[in-house]
Amino acid sequence: MNELSFVLRKHLARCVLLILIVSLTIPTPVSAETIAIIGTGQVASALGPRFAELGHDIVYGSRNPSRDEVKQLVAHTGHGASATTPAEAAAMADIVVLAVPGMAIESVMKSIGDLSGKIIIDPTNALRRGDDGLFELGVETSNAELIQGWAPNAFVVKAFNTLNWRTMLDPESAGGPVSIPLVGDSAEAKAVVATLAEGIGLEPIDLGPVRYAHFVEGMLILWINNRYVYRKPFDFHLRTVQTK
Ligand SMILES: NC(=O)c1ccc[n+]([C@@H]2O[C@H](COP(=O)([O-])OP(=O)(O)OC[C@H]3O[C@@H](n4cnc5c(N)ncnc54)[C@H](OP(=O)(O)O)[C@@H]3O)[C@@H](O)[C@H]2O)c1
Repeated sequence: MNELSFVLRKHLARCVLLILIVSLTIPTPVSAETIAIIGTGQVASALGPRFAELGHDIVYGSRNPSRDEVKQLVAHTGHGASATTPAEAAAMADIVVLAVPGMAIESVMKSIGDLSGKIIIDPTNALRRGDDGLFELGVETSNAELIQGWAPNAFVVKAFNTLNWRTMLDPESAGGPVSIPLVGDSAEAKAVVATLAEGIGLEPIDLGPVRYAHFVEGMLILWINNRYVYRKPFDFHLRTVQTK
């Protein structure tokens, strides 16, 4: 009897160990989140449907959610997507994507309500054109830092601002890997955004804290001048180097 219970206990311990090893080695997918996409333009129309395909619940935040174009975007997104006002969408979500014009960010942030505890994905570019026709940054610091200042208890991650919306929709059309530079002060929030980027076929790369957003927003200035002024378009691919 004693010998039997010893054998059973040994088997049980082995099973527990096996379950532990398996659960630690199998990567756990990011659980389904409610993602509010504020705006219903090009970036919203690319990221919304792609994130929905990953199993997330998408709610668009529009200044006019009953517009026909918004209804079409909701229908195209499928997977139970919906649309409401920006403040209501943000209140429902764990992750808020600010797919709005870069120069409108202050008015959007001032009317969106409390974003404390949420991940804010900031793909915006505040652009203006200099006298010579070249694009330049439209803010002194960066939109991401401004957003973090207006929402100090949210987790801002700058992401998806250095590529065209068509590449978000179809990364393979770029003809090679495309980087998604990420900056933000929360490693956990950046990991969540990295999983979203990877999920839609793009290559995230962590470039540091939110105070470096100025440089990432500057990357877009170089990108957009080459694309639309010099007509020598490129995509960013930051190849990681294996160190010993
Ligand atoms: N287009 C690209 O390829 C691309 C790529 C990377 C990053 N970005 C950046 O991502 C952001 C969104 O770009 P987008 O091309 O998607 O812009 P867009 O097509 O002009 O759409 C912006 C959306 O923001 C909403 N919005 C809220 N406040 C607004 C205001 N004051 N004026 C105008 N629209 C307002 C509108 O939706 P409702 O009317 O439904 O409210 C509008 O559809 C920009 O900051 C841009 O620099 C763009």
